[in-house]
Amino acid sequence: MASITIRNLDDEVKDLLRQLAAENGCSMEEQARAMIRAAVEGRAGRADRIDQIEEALRALAGSKEQAAPVVAAAGRPVVRGSLSGKRILLIIGGGIAAYKTLDLIRRLRERGASVRVVMTAAAQEFVTTLSVGALSADRVFTDLFDRHDEHDVGHIRLSREADLLVVAPATADLMAKLANGHANDLASTVLLATDKPVLLAPAMNPKMWGHPATRRNRATLQKDGIAFVGPARGEMAESNEAGEGRMAEPLEIVAAIEALLDGRPKPLAGRRIIVTSGPTHEPIDPVRYIANRSSGKQGHAIAAALARLGADVRLVSGPVTIADPAGVLTTHVETAAEMKNAVESMLPADAAVFVAAVADWRTANAAGEKIKKVPGKGPPSLQMVENPDILAGIGHHARRPGLVVGFAAETQDLIANAEAKLKKKGADFIVANDVSQESGIGTSGVMGGDRNKVRIVSKAGVEEWPEMGKDEVAARLATLIAERLKTIVV
Ligand code: CTP
Repeated sequence: MASITIRNLDDEVKDLLRQLAAENGCSMEEQARAMIRAAVEGRAGRADRIDQIEEALRALAGSKEQAAPVVAAAGRPVVRGSLSGKRILLIIGGGIAAYKTLDLIRRLRERGASVRVVMTAAAQEFVTTLSVGALSADRVFTDLFDRHDEHDVGHIRLSREADLLVVAPATADLMAKLANGHANDLASTVLLATDKPVLLAPAMNPKMWGHPATRRNRATLQKDGIAFVGPARGEMAESNEAGEGRMAEPLEIVAAIEALLDGRPKPLAGRRIIVTSGPTHEPIDPVRYIANRSSGKQGHAIAAALARLGADVRLVSGPVTIADPAGVLTTHVETAAEMKNAVESMLPADAAVFVAAVADWRTANAAGEKIKKVPGKGPPSLQMVENPDILAGIGHHARRPGLVVGFAAETQDLIANAEAKLKKKGADFIVANDVSQESGIGTSGVMGGDRNKVRIVSKAGVEEWPEMGKDEVAARLATLIAERLKTIVV
């Protein structure tokens, strides 16, 4: 295959490629190849050809290592082989979101998983067994009383020969059946007969998702150890309907599957946890802003550690230069007001951890144009107003998560200040850290550095942890949160 000559492309295309390549951390040529591949792959039934094209691209790139980070159509790097040898049993429920499972099957297979599919009768109204079978490269199972199935595979073997069962879309009906132990079709029977972990990706109308019956079923399923990914907020297929109920996107489901299959214990499976991280930027004018030294390292490490324990983590990150943590749904914001809105839109949640160093003040009116120096006029004076306290808002919210954790960055009177914040902000515990130059932590200090020394301040007292890496603080905190959540039922 001929190489792609980027300089011959139109400027507009080049600009777009440059932007996408920067976002995906690959070269412009790799990005172009990935997009060509995604376009070809979009035509159903061309799996063999795609493999051939991939082989050619690998050869073109010179080495397997160079070709490895192929970029998926949605822009997320594909980690080839991350699910190598894993067997997924995908149960497709009957909902409009069923069309997304076609992409899900493809994403799972490109990561090395084998995918067997069970479709409910309702699912077949939305997608055909023909297209599902073509993408999964296997027969599709639909009938509980199919003689051929019973002799050949059977519902018991179907449910046991998988490493993980994924239900997508998980309809209100499938959730109700599983929560109550019904088994009147192949999907529900397989789910009841399994001894393997189960992940649900719910999708339904927001009113159905919010109905007390569905909420009860969700709580029951969570107690039974069933994991959830999504649903997300957004527009519904029905006109004029919006809210929480959209199925998670295929790559979010893949991330949840990867997290579930990584082999470690998952005490936070089925728990949704909001984490804030990084600084906020409060604009002065279009080019200047007020910020602080927070790097986001501690907050991002906590989000990743919670995800490793199986939590469905929603990270709200201020402007940082570090990457989004793996397996975490990250929303990027600039200002405190945006962070507050993002956090509130993610309720309800089982827990929330506020690590962000939110700017306490913003300018009353950010200038629309760059403020110029005017000879003889001196520096401008900025009128400041206080930002909303996001933690305090959630700590006293009507839909307060069961567990609320805050941080206290202090340069003096660490414990007294942390205790005051615990009370004022309605938190269950405050992770207090000394951010003074005298903290003696590393050369760069806590803010921006890789190490931290914290004290856990709660009504029960103060627990002092030794100095350790931020990843270690995150892992210990995630374990502590998992322990606390065991005693809290939503
Ligand atoms: N926080 C928040 N929203 C704000 C300010 C702080 O959510 N507007 C949260 C932080 O994420 C942290 C905790 O509150 O979990 C304490 O933050 P800190 O900056 O230490 O305290 P402040 O409330 O800002 O008080 P002060 O700056 O006076 O110490």
